[in-house]
Amino acid sequence: MKTGVVILAAGQGKRMRSRRPKVLHPLAGRPLLAHVLAAARALDPARIVVVHGHGGEQVRSALADEDCVWVEQAEQRGTGHAVIQAMPALTDMDRVLVLYGDVPLITPETLERLVALAGSTPLAVLTAELDDPNGYGRILRDAEARVVRIVEDKDASVEERAIREINTGFLVADQARLVSWLDRIDDDNAQGEYYLTDVIELAAREGVAIATTQPEALHEVAGVNDRVQLAELERIHQRRQAESLMRSGVTLADPARFDLRGRLDAEADVFIDVNVVIEGEVRLASGVRVGPNCVLKDCVIGPDTEVQANCVIESAEVGANARIGPFARLRPEARLADDTHVGNFVEIKKTQVGRGSKVNHLTYLGDAEVGAGVNVGAGTITCNYDGVNKFKTRIGDGAFIGSNTALVAPVTVGAGATIGAGSVVTREAPADQLTLTRARQTTIQGWKRPTKKT
Ligand code: UD1
Ligand code: CA
Repeated sequence: MKTGVVILAAGQGKRMRSRRPKVLHPLAGRPLLAHVLAAARALDPARIVVVHGHGGEQVRSALADEDCVWVEQAEQRGTGHAVIQAMPALTDMDRVLVLYGDVPLITPETLERLVALAGSTPLAVLTAELDDPNGYGRILRDAEARVVRIVEDKDASVEERAIREINTGFLVADQARLVSWLDRIDDDNAQGEYYLTDVIELAAREGVAIATTQPEALHEVAGVNDRVQLAELERIHQRRQAESLMRSGVTLADPARFDLRGRLDAEADVFIDVNVVIEGEVRLASGVRVGPNCVLKDCVIGPDTEVQANCVIESAEVGANARIGPFARLRPEARLADDTHVGNFVEIKKTQVGRGSKVNHLTYLGDAEVGAGVNVGAGTITCNYDGVNKFKTRIGDGAFIGSNTALVAPVTVGAGATIGAGSVVTREAPADQLTLTRARQTTIQGWKRPTKKT
């Protein structure tokens, strides 16, 4: 059986009050539509068709890596009209599953359950029981509880509005039968739209036994219409991610103050304090501790390393037993070996720091290779940029860089060398020797401070 998926994403999303198409608004750092695509992809369908409308080029370019067919619905004339646009791209499918691009938390498990129903009947609908069904299409059943019709809220009578079983919008149908039903729908209704939901009545009249199933949790079928709902779904999604991390052995100081916008691969006994944001792909080895207010993006942190409060780490690697922060910034291609210490107001970019080296305060290291057992004093700056080109600084094992040193690259400090505080180093500093570039200190004997003239 070949299943084609149609994702409806042409709606304007007026209530977002945004220049950005609704389905591109991010949830956990990824567009809403990317979440739906991921859920669809998990079913391993033969094809995915996305129906886009306004801002289509923006949507396509944001999701250019996705393997799907893009179909334009130039004018939004209803959900039925949207599916009609997609059908020519699905003629070789056995059945069609319809999803919404603005309903991001749908799970593959629920979709699998829905699709499984289509094995025994040509039409199955995902429904839900709501305490407040206002605004939704209602499921109408006959005396034998068979689904006979879906009535839209705006077209419903007072009695019909009292029905609490609603249409989530997700359905799966036999491809050929769906085409024949869609051929017969019209826009003669309160909204003047072609309703996809009208296929239900057509199917029921043909004697089709319409199957239904319900999602595990209601948030799976909750749509995003405005930024309030977007924030609600973000919190639900974050809570679910936090719970799964905690179950896998991670301690979160407060799961309500933890945000994962990507993938976190954390080993046992990782501790994460409050207000930490994890982005991209992050790996934390066992025993890693992350202090409050840190941002970690695309990085790997080795076992038992401590990242103290307020650090920002991006595209960097840190070994085992290191101590980073508070207030440290590791930028792309910073690679710190085991047992390193990087302290407050230190910025490190495209630099390797060897085992056991310390860069404790107020320092910038860029385009550098720092050996093992090096001590970089407070206020050390690698002057790696002449305004046009970048140059490398090399510091050998066991070197000691005095405070407030400017290392003007390209430059090398030999192993075991000592640089006197306040030096501007422009030439090689030989190994095991003291180098300093500093005017000698003098004292003027008998000098008097000036006095006020009368
Ligand atoms: C629809 C259903 C309703 C259901 C509700 C669940 C119909 C007629 N009604 O109502 O029974 O309870 O969803 O949320 O199907 N879209 C397009 N092109 C269009 C119109 C819509 O792509 O021309 C897309 C939207 O972007 C959205 C989805 O289809 O992702 C649903 O559209 P929306 O206008 O929200 O449908 P509702 O009127 O809420
Ligand atoms: Ca809606």
